[in-house]
Amino acid sequence: MTNRSLVAIEEYSKEKILYMLEMAKEFEKCPNRKILDSKIVATLFFEPSTRTRLSFETAANRLGAKVIGFTDPKVTSSTKGETLKDTIMMVSNYADVIVMRHYLEGAARYASEIAPVPIVNAGDGANQHPSQTMLDLYSIYKTQGTLENLNIYMVGDLKYGRTVHSLLMAMRHFNPTFHFVAPDELKMPDEYKLYCRKNGIRYVEHRDFNEDVIADADIIYMTRVQRERFTDLMEYEKVKNVYILHEQMLHKTKETMKILHPLPRVNEIAYDVDSSPKAYYFQQAKNGLYARQAIICDVLGITLDEVRNNK
Ligand code: CP
Repeated sequence: MTNRSLVAIEEYSKEKILYMLEMAKEFEKCPNRKILDSKIVATLFFEPSTRTRLSFETAANRLGAKVIGFTDPKVTSSTKGETLKDTIMMVSNYADVIVMRHYLEGAARYASEIAPVPIVNAGDGANQHPSQTMLDLYSIYKTQGTLENLNIYMVGDLKYGRTVHSLLMAMRHFNPTFHFVAPDELKMPDEYKLYCRKNGIRYVEHRDFNEDVIADADIIYMTRVQRERFTDLMEYEKVKNVYILHEQMLHKTKETMKILHPLPRVNEIAYDVDSSPKAYYFQQAKNGLYARQAIICDVLGITLDEVRNNK
């Protein structure tokens, strides 16, 4: 069998992204489809998670699969010195697909090269989070009616934020204009700005975050400053509250503008924003279920037609 792993979002063409969004739409219409009755999905989380793990597990359950896995590597034999390679080879004996989050960049790629079953990257260090990107794209598509020609503001931790890195790459097909809003310490890394230039993606960088800066946004993508990525906690303390979005900052924004956040939030979105019709982050997390149902099916070789024919 061809290894159909999802490791990095660049592996998806424009056609593939649109195809996956169609599949997610099918699952939103009817999430309970017992397509994977005889399958086992393993969820290996070497780093903490709420949404990604639970939505993948809900996706598997709604598809009729069984779920095995761990949420804390301390309870596994990795504490006895078992290598990632051996863990992956062992779990491949038990499961048909492995969903893995790991703190090391490149861990998912490595796993996909050795595993006989598909690997789904559920986040590898500060590198990529492709399933988050698919739910982000689905959320943007649902709320804007298109992915084309949008003004997307990415705000906060653009240095370590794997969700913004993956989203930036996926949007290359859709002629976006990005606005990178970050303090110097957390600026979008040069490699991603180079990627933008090579792919003809417009971007503007900002240090200020106020109602005039965001007035033209179609999407404001807020991010958390990730304490766990800092080696020097004094540096984290300096930037942790750098940008906070308040409801009063939204008055000049477009009616159709939506605020996304991969979550968890700490304090970068004030609670007064939650009741705004422009707040979309909780629905965004719900969309993760449908996007991840589509991903699990796709890596197991199940087509959109097969999904449509199974209600
Ligand atoms: N967005 C996201 O990855 O959330 P979790 O860390 O809770 O999975």
